[in-house]
Amino acid sequence: MSIVHSGPLRVGIVGCGNIAVNFHVPACLALPEAVEIVGLADPTPERLEAGRVAAGLSRERVHADAAALIAREDVDVVDVCTPQHLHRDIAIAAAGAGKHVLCEKPIAAAPADAAAMVAAADEAGTVLAVVHNYLFFPYVAALRELIAAGELGEVRTVRVDMLGVVDSPGAAGYRPQWRKDPTASGGGVLMDMLHAVYLAEHLLGLPAGRVSGFVDGAAGDAVESLALARLEADGRAASVNVAWGMGEGGITVSGTKGRAVVRYRGDGTPPWAPFEQLTVTTAAGTRTVALPAGAELGPLIADALRDTVADVAAAIRANRPPAATGAQALHTLEATIATYASAALGRTVAVPFDPGSPLHRRGVVGLDELDVPLDSPVRRRGLFGLS
Ligand SMILES: NC(=O)c1ccc[n+]([C@@H]2O[C@H](COP(=O)([O-])OP(=O)(O)OC[C@H]3O[C@@H](n4cnc5c(N)ncnc54)[C@H](O)[C@@H]3O)[C@@H](O)[C@H]2O)c1
Repeated sequence: MSIVHSGPLRVGIVGCGNIAVNFHVPACLALPEAVEIVGLADPTPERLEAGRVAAGLSRERVHADAAALIAREDVDVVDVCTPQHLHRDIAIAAAGAGKHVLCEKPIAAAPADAAAMVAAADEAGTVLAVVHNYLFFPYVAALRELIAAGELGEVRTVRVDMLGVVDSPGAAGYRPQWRKDPTASGGGVLMDMLHAVYLAEHLLGLPAGRVSGFVDGAAGDAVESLALARLEADGRAASVNVAWGMGEGGITVSGTKGRAVVRYRGDGTPPWAPFEQLTVTTAAGTRTVALPAGAELGPLIADALRDTVADVAAAIRANRPPAATGAQALHTLEATIATYASAALGRTVAVPFDPGSPLHRRGVVGLDELDVPLDSPVRRRGLFGLS
């Protein structure tokens, strides 16, 4: 579908929680030539009001029901900012109404939902873009440039450590603990920080084909608070280590000719700890890549969200793919769920999943249809609804 009018793309935001009000609304307001917020929807009255005030809209332009927003003729793009188990119906309705979609990550909680979203956009001829905003961090762009320039040779291994993730609740007026409910979130800290998974795949230069994992959770929690994943891709491998806690953060890319190492303040985890240094070591020695000082969390995410929205608007106008397509996001989702499945089943798990697999149909909660051993640590912990 092409946009016929020449002004900014008219955006309707669905879900006025933390990410929408703190980052999507300011991102759109920072790009007046590219986009204009024309409406919002949220069934939680205090969140709808918070969004309305932040976006500076009159009461008649905001809705309790997303369907009313999606039906409006003056909306070109629907920006989906609800928790992930609710993305599918909104994105499919939007595509059915001929709207382009920008969807928060993870694209969905279950791969089949994500696949249905991709199919709906394909059928409608609309764009389905997903917010993989860490791709826009300046040091990530610099890393990808130096890999593409060949300075590291052929990439062999990637390590992405985010072991000091802050466990942030959702907006108070809705369900602050939805991230701890696997039927809503689709998983714990790794699902929330699947940023680490797509970063690893982008730095490897290939999507993962086989995944193995270890996960553990705090007593009484139904989702993991610690996840270690190994992603294999055609002779290359990444390890992705993520936890709610106080562990180390950092990225290392090793190739046949050199290595690149990213460090954050106090060896902390991004985006809470600002970027500190990117070094490249080859046979010629070690150099520090010249980059601007690392921003604190607020401005870092604000800039990355602004760049994400700008990219999607440009992609729609130019009829080119956005930085993260629905199909790419579906793959990242499956690699994340494969980590859980591997940890539960005690073996390496291949991605993409068979479409008939319960993991594809239902995501991590589909583990209850598989032969998870009685002594599986995931079952013993009572994670993901297993008992
Ligand atoms: N890209 C990032 O860096 C980033 C950061 C945080 C959150 N997120 C993602 O953004 C999404 C939302 O996260 P959050 O932290 O803002 O959650 P939140 O709990 O703060 O907000 C969720 C909002 O969705 C609203 N909602 C619920 N059902 C709805 C419906 N049917 N229609 C419209 N609105 C509805 C709730 O009322 C609430 O206002 C999640 O998918 C999350 O993973 C991404």
